[in-house]
Amino acid sequence: MKILVVGTGAREHAICRAIGEDAELHSIMSRKNPGISRISKFKILSEKDVEAVKNYALENKIDVAVIGPEAPLEMGIVDALQEEGIGCVGPTKEAARIETDKSFMRNLFEEHKIPGSLVYRVFDDAQDAGKFIDDFGKEVVIKPVGLTGGKGVKIMGEHLEDAHEAKNYVKEIIDNKIGGHPRVVIEERLLGEEFTVQAFVDGKHVVPMPAAQDHPSAYEGDKGPITGGMGSYSNKDGLLPFLNRKDYDKSVKIMEKTVKAIKNEVGPYRGILYGQFMLCRDGPRLVEYNARFGDPEAMNVLPLLNSSFVEVSQNIVDGKLKKVDFESKATVCKYVVPRGYPETAASNQVIEVDEAKINDAGAIVYYAAVDQNDDKIYTSSSRALGLVGIGETIEEAEEICEKATSYVEGDVYHRSDVGTADLIGKRMRHMEQIRQGNI
Ligand code: GLY
Repeated sequence: MKILVVGTGAREHAICRAIGEDAELHSIMSRKNPGISRISKFKILSEKDVEAVKNYALENKIDVAVIGPEAPLEMGIVDALQEEGIGCVGPTKEAARIETDKSFMRNLFEEHKIPGSLVYRVFDDAQDAGKFIDDFGKEVVIKPVGLTGGKGVKIMGEHLEDAHEAKNYVKEIIDNKIGGHPRVVIEERLLGEEFTVQAFVDGKHVVPMPAAQDHPSAYEGDKGPITGGMGSYSNKDGLLPFLNRKDYDKSVKIMEKTVKAIKNEVGPYRGILYGQFMLCRDGPRLVEYNARFGDPEAMNVLPLLNSSFVEVSQNIVDGKLKKVDFESKATVCKYVVPRGYPETAASNQVIEVDEAKINDAGAIVYYAAVDQNDDKIYTSSSRALGLVGIGETIEEAEEICEKATSYVEGDVYHRSDVGTADLIGKRMRHMEQIRQGNI
C-alpha cells in the first residue's frame, strides 16, 4: 500500500509517524521538514498546487492520500484526487465548507436542528451588522466567514474593547475581505471552558478520539496574542479534568448529527472532523469545526493510536470504519516557538535540538515550521516544534514534556504552564463556578 501525506508541519509529522512502516510512505511538503523527510519519500512543492500533487500521486501510484491542512481542501484537492481513483482521508471541497465557510456551518445547525448551537447572524453590510451588535446588547464574537489561519476571530471583552471596536473590526473584514469574502459571522460570546473532540469519519460512522484542550494564548496565564496553539493535553480516560462522560458523549452526538446533515446537503464527509466545543452551564456548544486534525491536538492522540493508521485510513475510504483503539495514557504537548512569535518571530535562526536527550527523557519531537538546510534547523515566522510527553497521569506527562524543552536551544520560548496542576486547577474552578451559576 502506498500512502501520501500532504502537509509540512508537526501535525503531518505526527500523521507520518503514526503510519510508520505500515505502508510505503510518501509526502508532499512546502519546505523540508526534518522529521518527515527522514521517514518518507518526499517532494518539496506547494500543498496548494492541486495539479502538481495529483500528478505526483498518479506518477507514484498512490493508493490513499491523507490531507493535513485545510487550505488544499478548500482548493478541491480531494475532488481532484478522487476523480483519478485515489482514495482520500479528507473531505471534498463542498464537505470541507464545514470549516472553510462559517455561515454554511451555522446554517447547517439551524436547518437540521442540530443541538449545541448559539445565537448568530451573518452580514455582508457593516451598518446592518452594527445595528445587530447594538440591539443584541451583550458581548459578541466576530468571525470572518472564510479561512484566516486561526487568527481572524476576535472576541469582545478580550481582543475588542467595546461595541465600537467590534463594529470597526466588522468593517475591516468586509472592506478588506479578510478570510477571502466580504462577509462576517457575529455570534454570542459563550462562557465556559473550551475543549476539542476529533473523530475519524467515513461518510456515515463517527469514531471519536480522546478529548484534548489547546492553549491559544501566547503567554503563560492565558495572556498575550492568539496563536495557532501553544500546547495541549489529554487524559488517560479520554476525558478532561473538567469534562465528564455525559458532556463528551453529547459532543460526539452533535458531531454525528453534523455528519448526517453534511451528507444530506452536499454528500458524504470522509476524513477527520475536529469539533471545538465550549463547555457551558447547559452542556457543550459548538464553537467551530475544522475539516482536519487539530494542531497541536493531533499530537495528543496520534502517539496513542494502537490501531493501524493505514487500516483506519483504508476503512475511511471504503466507508467501513470500525472501532479504533487508543492506549489509555495522558499526554502533554508544548510548542517551542521563535522568540517574538506570533507578531515578530525571530525567523531564520538556527536551533539545536538534542533528539537523543529528548527521547531519553521519554518525550517525542514533532517538527513544525522549521527548515532543514545543510543539516542545520532554521526557525521561520511560525511554531518550530512540538514536544510530547506521555504518562500515566497528566502530571507525569507534563514533567516529561517540560524536561524535553530544556534540550532545545536557540532564540525560542514555550509556555511552561501547559498541563500543570496549577493551570488545570484554575480551569476546573472556572467550570465549577459556571456550573453553580456564580458567573
Ligand atoms: N488547535 C487549533 C487548530 O488546529 O486549528
